[in-house]
Amino acid sequence: MPTPDILAPATLGPITLRNRIIKAATFEGVTPDALVTDELIEFHRAVAAGGAGMTTVAYCAASPEGRTDRHQIYMRPEAVPGLRRLTDAVHAEGAKASAQIGHAGPVANAKSNRRTALAPSAQISPLSMMLTRSATKADIARITADHARAARHAVESGFDAVEIHFGHNYFTSAFLSPKLNRRKDEYGGSLANRARVAREVAAAVRAEVGAEIAILAKLNMDDGVPGGFWLEESMAVAQWLEQDGSLDALELTCGSSLKNPMYLFRGDVPMKEFAATFPQPTKLGLQAVGRFFLRTYPYEPAYMLESARQFRAAVKMPLVLLGGITDRAGMDLAMAEGFDFVAMGRALLREPDLINKIAADAATESLCIHCNKCMPTIYSGTRCVLVPQG
Ligand SMILES: Cc1cc2nc3c(=O)[nH]c(=O)nc-3n(C[C@H](O)[C@H](O)[C@H](O)COP(=O)(O)O)c2cc1C
Ligand code: SF4
Repeated sequence: MPTPDILAPATLGPITLRNRIIKAATFEGVTPDALVTDELIEFHRAVAAGGAGMTTVAYCAASPEGRTDRHQIYMRPEAVPGLRRLTDAVHAEGAKASAQIGHAGPVANAKSNRRTALAPSAQISPLSMMLTRSATKADIARITADHARAARHAVESGFDAVEIHFGHNYFTSAFLSPKLNRRKDEYGGSLANRARVAREVAAAVRAEVGAEIAILAKLNMDDGVPGGFWLEESMAVAQWLEQDGSLDALELTCGSSLKNPMYLFRGDVPMKEFAATFPQPTKLGLQAVGRFFLRTYPYEPAYMLESARQFRAAVKMPLVLLGGITDRAGMDLAMAEGFDFVAMGRALLREPDLINKIAADAATESLCIHCNKCMPTIYSGTRCVLVPQG
């Protein structure tokens, strides 16, 4: 098969995107009442006007206790009218809209949510310094149903796709991890048991929305944590997810928001800016152990390719390559390696119109310097710090 043109239209399950570029989820942090604001709409309208094939709204929690911050949207009837305005604005610019749905599990901020965080096995969360509770089977059943309900709300809101969060040691990803999941029931132990939540959630979403919208999942290839979920296991999970037929594509990711956040991002560690966003005593703790928690990994273009390539060989289903894709060369490399789409986070935060620029001049280079100073801005309105405000 000839290598596809990244800028030509492509089908993704039941939908067609105008090109193969997806704006990756970057929690926008402009939803103070857990509802859509004009700022959130403008954020995604700009990405759509800037040429991306699809933009991903992050993050649309499936359950209220599944938020990393209580100001995050959780999917409920009151959220639908605002989300509909957002998808209308994105569609008017010719792009598609995807809702990232998920449950933060142990990454949820219990203090902010004023609800206990749920995990496969109880542990102290280094983020809130509070104890998480081991999810009961009733919790798992309810959270699975919440994902299906969230997908239904996404359809009602005019979304073209949902992206289910199976990464970063959020709820489902924490179940996959042999380090975080020490359960003795049918959701713990063997890989088949640890993968049960992921498969049940994907199946529940598919059963709810059928082929009304596309269903993607963002799956960890590797937690970046010793003793955590790793390629050998994640490739088997990807194969099971493919066999189940519940998903239209997998977006491959890595890292742990709980144990090793920088593994996902690579590049500079914005230690000072990060510490400033936390209240005491977390701030003091972060200053003391920050260098260990926020380890440095060198940035390089297409830094997830080596791992993602293993998946390309192991499954036939459409795959989205993520991580350090910033220019036409990276996009063409992804296509040549057999990936179906690319997802771009920081480069489109820096320049929402980067895709139009690349379409006009293939030699365009991204202005993102992977300083990662956008990461701590999630608490005050996610933005590239190099873009002048106003
Ligand atoms: C400010 C910021 C917020 C992010 N929020 C999310 C999120 O809500 N959900 C998610 O799955 N990934 C999130 N990510 C990770 C990105 O989706 C992406 O995986 C990561 O930035 C690597 O891709 P890139 O090299 O194209 O930036 C975030 C990244 C940044 C920079
Ligand atoms: S703050 Fe701007 S330049 Fe720095 S990593 Fe984020 S998007 Fe790139």
